[in-house]
Amino acid sequence: MADALTKAFGPGGGVVTAVAPGRVNLIGEHTDYNEGFVLPMAIDLSVEMAARPRTDRQVRIRSVDFGEEVAFSLTDALVPDPAHPWSNYVRGVLWALREAGTEPAGMDAAFGGTLPQGAGLSSSAALEVATALVAKAIRPFELDLPGLARLCQHAENDFVGVKCGIMDPFASLAARAGHALLLDCRSLDYEHVPLELGEHVVAICHSGVRHALVGSEYNVRRRQCAEGVEVLRRRFPAVRALRDATLEQLESCASELSAEVHRRCRHVIAENARALESAEALRAGDLVRFGRLMDASHVSLRDDYAVSCPEVDLLVELSRRSRGVLGARITGGGFGGCTVNLVARDAVEAFRGDVLGEYGRRTGLTPRLFLSAPGPGAATH
Ligand code: GLA
Repeated sequence: MADALTKAFGPGGGVVTAVAPGRVNLIGEHTDYNEGFVLPMAIDLSVEMAARPRTDRQVRIRSVDFGEEVAFSLTDALVPDPAHPWSNYVRGVLWALREAGTEPAGMDAAFGGTLPQGAGLSSSAALEVATALVAKAIRPFELDLPGLARLCQHAENDFVGVKCGIMDPFASLAARAGHALLLDCRSLDYEHVPLELGEHVVAICHSGVRHALVGSEYNVRRRQCAEGVEVLRRRFPAVRALRDATLEQLESCASELSAEVHRRCRHVIAENARALESAEALRAGDLVRFGRLMDASHVSLRDDYAVSCPEVDLLVELSRRSRGVLGARITGGGFGGCTVNLVARDAVEAFRGDVLGEYGRRTGLTPRLFLSAPGPGAATH
């Protein structure tokens, strides 16, 4: 990326580079904004950004993958640029820094990487994290890891306008190689849970259905969860978020909830318990139990939370029927994107043929398979 920087903006010193990985969520879906638990791991696809400071207040950004450049001045208010949506993740982080009382420095930057966009592997959070890290390296500011994750979330929520949770930037920042990350999205306490896969691999399958969070049903789900909390809380004042509720409590309020809101809440409460149980299964090295929890998660996301789609359901079903698969589920925000599968290493080629081949024939879509070991979190060089 340093070469791309020089090519775009000429030679210069003081170059810093940040690499921020994407993530796949193993389990704990749609729990982060309900203050619950998630269990993602970083993947070995990432966004890399090289940057160097400028003496004036200009910012120039080159997107290697889009083959585009933007330039703006920090003397002006930072506003989204509808003509270059990719640049809004970078602008958003600089905006959020300014909101936090830290004036970012002018810089030239170039970025690109291996992480596909719109696949649900968190390319936007990775770009935000890379931006935050180069900005911090160029002009240091006081923010610890949770603070940086919040900064990126703030950029995405309030500048880009996507009301996502804390999981994606947190996973990109805090992941550890060989481990899954158990994150408590209320306290932001986290634990690196060893992911000893032995003869198995984490296989991520892109359905070829483009997932788009912006303008999707995501915000509707958030509202439905809030609606559920409001009802639960009247009877159980200790319930501040769905993470505090039990299924028994939910059932006792069923008559006051619409059938839809009831199902949404049921997913979140059960999924939160599954995330915790999965961490336990992984600590015990029990992949079979973990696989069953993944399966149950998919059913719940499909039927109760209604964030799957027919193509992804087919992909999961084919996977479940394939040899050597311990568990399969939709991962990420939903409505397309990827599945995550736990597959025996010696069955991966069969998986490719049976699952991807059959899926392609039946849908006319082109699925893609990524195998990734649990990777390290973001770093600056
Ligand atoms: C998207 C959001 C995350 C999380 C997931 C669902 O990926 O960015 O914050 O809410 O959906 O688990």
